[in-house]
Amino acid sequence: MAEEIQSWPLNPSRLNHRSDEENPVFNNIRKERSNKCFVYVFTAIVLQSIFILVFALVVLRPKSPSVKLRSVTVKSLRYTTSPLPSLNATLVAEISIKNPNFGSFKFENSAVSFLYEGKQINGKKTVKGNVSARETKRFNVSVEVRSSRLSEKQNLVNDLNSGIVKLSSLARIVGKVHLIKILKTKKTKEMNCTMSINLKNRTIKDLLCN
Ligand SMILES: *[C@@H]1O[C@H](CO)[C@@H](O)[C@H](O)[C@H]1NC(C)=O
Ligand SMILES: *[C@@H]1O[C@H](CO)[C@@H](O)[C@H](O)[C@H]1NC(C)=O
Ligand SMILES: *[C@@H]1O[C@H](CO)[C@@H](O)[C@H](O)[C@H]1NC(C)=O
Ligand SMILES: *[C@@H]1O[C@H](CO)[C@@H](O)[C@H](O)[C@H]1NC(C)=O
Ligand SMILES: *[C@@H]1O[C@H](CO)[C@@H](O)[C@H](O)[C@H]1NC(C)=O
Repeated sequence: MAEEIQSWPLNPSRLNHRSDEENPVFNNIRKERSNKCFVYVFTAIVLQSIFILVFALVVLRPKSPSVKLRSVTVKSLRYTTSPLPSLNATLVAEISIKNPNFGSFKFENSAVSFLYEGKQINGKKTVKGNVSARETKRFNVSVEVRSSRLSEKQNLVNDLNSGIVKLSSLARIVGKVHLIKILKTKKTKEMNCTMSINLKNRTIKDLLCN
């Protein structure tokens, strides 16, 4: 009985052919067919729902890209302690951006900066670019560092004399993940690293990121 009640809304033939109800053989065949049909339709709906759910969860769910500072190289370096302490350098930061999404990641107005004792020592440096779906791409960002941006230089004198200058670097990548033409999601990723410049041989050591 329960079976019959269940199949009732999906069995429109019963509405139109009431005369068939007199014939129990016909009626049974029809019922069996409509039950099978119901199972097929139901299975198809369930499978489609699972597919859409998996598609939405795996493919359309935007994930944050990961950003890494792979290396910093000193392209040019000039420094002096007298008459005034001064440090000018061109640093090239190689960053890699890994895009785990099934759509491209396009970023712009993103910034890479260097700081001395928490104070930014470079002018505004913005970067832009794009990373294809499920790809990792490297970018070289050249940054001009000038100690003239510092108001307090007492510690800089000591660092210049010791030959080691500690810097930190911040990267803020702001972009959009393009999953399908109409679906764009904003994603922002920040990175914070510290390092030391060895003034004598112009090398970067102890590059640590978190
Ligand atoms: C650094 O650059 C400034 C101008 O941008 C200049 O006045 C200064 O002399 C430079 N310092 C060194 C050590 O070259
Ligand atoms: C991706 O970036 C490259 C250069 O970095 C550029 O030539 C290309 O047009 C960009 N593609 C899109 C879709 O923005
Ligand atoms: C970035 O610069 C470094 C050193 O100059 C070089 O080895 C590397 O191949 C460059 N990477 C890219 C992506 O241009
Ligand atoms: C970067 O990390 C250092 C510690 O590693 C922390 O003191 C500093 O506040 C961080 N800066 C930003 C802007 O998150
Ligand atoms: C630079 O000098 C420091 C010590 O002053 C040393 O530890 C480091 O290995 C040197 N680096 C290179 C590339 O020569």
